[in-house]
Amino acid sequence: MVKRQAGVTEAQIAVHWKEEDYFPPSAKFIGQANAADPGILERFSEEHFPECFKEYADLLTWDKYWHTTLDTSNAPFWKWFVGGRLNACYNCVDRHLAKNRNKAAFIWVPEPEEEEDRVITYQELYVQVNEFAALLRDFCGLKTGDRVTFHMPMLPELSVSMLACARLGIIHSQVFGGFSGQACGDRIIDSGSHVLVTMDAYYRNGSLIDHKAKADEAVARAESEGVHVDKVLIWRRYPQQYSSPTPLVEDRDFIVNDLLKDYTGKRIAPVSMPAEAPLFLMYTSGTTASPKGCQHSTGGYLAYVAGTSKYYQDIHPEDTYWCLADIGWITGHSYIVYGPLALCATSVMYEGVPTYPDAGRPWRVAERLDVNIFHTAPTTIRMLRKAGPGEPAKYNYHFKHMTTVGEPIEPEVWRWYYAAVGKGEAVIVDTWWQTENGGFLGSTLPALHPMKPGSCGPGVLGIYPIVYDEKGNEVEAGSGTAGNICIRNPWPGIFQTIWGDPDRFVEIYFAKYCKNRESKNWQDWPYLAGDGAMQAADGYLRILGRVDDVINVAGHRLGTKELESACLTVEEVVEAAAVPVLDEIRGRAVEIYVALQPSVDPSDEIQQKVTAAIEKTIGKIARPKNVWIVPDMPKTRSGKIMRRVLAGISNFTDPGDTMTLANSEIVEDVRQHVQSEKIARGDAPKELTDEEREELAKFGQES
Ligand code: WT7
Repeated sequence: MVKRQAGVTEAQIAVHWKEEDYFPPSAKFIGQANAADPGILERFSEEHFPECFKEYADLLTWDKYWHTTLDTSNAPFWKWFVGGRLNACYNCVDRHLAKNRNKAAFIWVPEPEEEEDRVITYQELYVQVNEFAALLRDFCGLKTGDRVTFHMPMLPELSVSMLACARLGIIHSQVFGGFSGQACGDRIIDSGSHVLVTMDAYYRNGSLIDHKAKADEAVARAESEGVHVDKVLIWRRYPQQYSSPTPLVEDRDFIVNDLLKDYTGKRIAPVSMPAEAPLFLMYTSGTTASPKGCQHSTGGYLAYVAGTSKYYQDIHPEDTYWCLADIGWITGHSYIVYGPLALCATSVMYEGVPTYPDAGRPWRVAERLDVNIFHTAPTTIRMLRKAGPGEPAKYNYHFKHMTTVGEPIEPEVWRWYYAAVGKGEAVIVDTWWQTENGGFLGSTLPALHPMKPGSCGPGVLGIYPIVYDEKGNEVEAGSGTAGNICIRNPWPGIFQTIWGDPDRFVEIYFAKYCKNRESKNWQDWPYLAGDGAMQAADGYLRILGRVDDVINVAGHRLGTKELESACLTVEEVVEAAAVPVLDEIRGRAVEIYVALQPSVDPSDEIQQKVTAAIEKTIGKIARPKNVWIVPDMPKTRSGKIMRRVLAGISNFTDPGDTMTLANSEIVEDVRQHVQSEKIARGDAPKELTDEEREELAKFGQES
């Protein structure tokens, strides 16, 4: 058992990052930016909170204007824009028709390169949404407040289905298409949905995958817990033909494309919803603990994603915006569908794997469609860098703006993104936020703040972050110490509760630093993000990752991301994961997993280089016990490396559930390689105590 060193509190994480240089935005970018006047920073300063968010609310069309900006009477269940009524679908579709009916709302790019894109204008979207809404109402009998689960791949029918629900005030709950039928079933149970919307098949990595089979599993799973799904609505990947080998279940399964024939030309008036009515649920952390259904509001959420899309994504009417993420993830809800559509943008959607059929694919799409705003995650950037570092240079596209989101980006990877993908011309925003947050929390304002690789930047407009130590004392900016990052104030995009579990909502996100549970002042309810972070003297935040993902070496708490960034300074390394292993002397030691560029063979020399890089950037304390070179990392479908699985392998403990991994087959490969080597070296751990087992099991788990 590791003894905690006296004086070292939980939240303190040793930080050894070197300060990176600033990269200023170009004059050309500044000249056209939506937020180029520094006056905006003043407008959103704390002095003007919460009224500053009127600016975001005024991007929307309200049926009835609101009277109270923020109601804190039932803290911490905040209510935004109280008294207001609006419809999210109307705001994303109908109101654009007068001037922009023939503008592309979506350009959908199928995975097979020989298949044609589908361009859906705002008028076409309007027609499809209305007809599907009619079907939901009249065929399924759904009404305002009901929940509907989607298990949809990346096709425009997903957006149509979401907007049709929004039109009727039905709460949609999209489960990431790559999740198993069982995971989908669990979410059906939790949300109490009786209708499942899915698709027969979709393309992934060159094969047409049978997706309908998962619907049967999901429904069976729900049934086993007493939740009955009475209708499964199935969209066809190819509208004219059913593409799944899985048979339909009579009186339960219905083909949407056929049913819609009865609703041709139907128009459904958008239902005017209170601002605080729930718009959708988005489940999070399902890979580890029981899933939490984050409930997002209509008015606050939509205002927040519209405002942040305008100022942080810098979307203009003439832009072609491509967020290469999945709509089954909050990023896609906020920044493929709701945010861009609220601004009447053209949003590109891609069906498949970014490296299919090769690592030049995204850049061919960008060239062909003249995409100028590009948005993706570090895992995709690393994948594209690994598979084709020289590909972007071969294509004639020009981005003005790029986003990275989802995990801390290693400065080495950031620099490749900037130089190779952005060709040195594009600004980058590193946007830090969470499923719970609706929209960005930390980022530079692209024309007003210089970029700094590895740091997301300051809190975004109207967000006032603070870093606390374990006792609730503020960790000063520039002190070189990390702690628990919190947001001191509510904001319109924050989720309203955990579906069906308000106590858990309060406990997980607010209890830790709340000084007075009776208080109705927002000042008493800082929001605990659960990430470790360090604030530099310039106010920029460096996110170290989940506080649970910390390795304690002799009482010295090391952030996994920092160790991994050090590994990525070794040229041949393209991905790295750091995990704790039991060590008789140090209590815990660090063990490293790395994946290499495809052209590079594993060698002792590379292992030594990794060790040297860690010693140099962090110190001898972090010297890894082993460096394992592996072909690939176990990853979730959203691309997060599952450190807990690797930790299980390193420690000969249970790697936990691997069901929701994108590449579960890799786990057994890596396990055999690592464990047989350890056994050969006499390095297999002795029988672990229960306490040790329990502590290790906590690594990489989320609450
Ligand atoms: C966790 C939230 C927000 C949509 C995608 C992820 C990590 C997210 C960043 C970033 C450093 C980041 C945090 C956060 N994270 N973005 N730019 N820099 N870390 O949503 O699945 O709810 O995950 O992702 O650890 O808590 P999520």
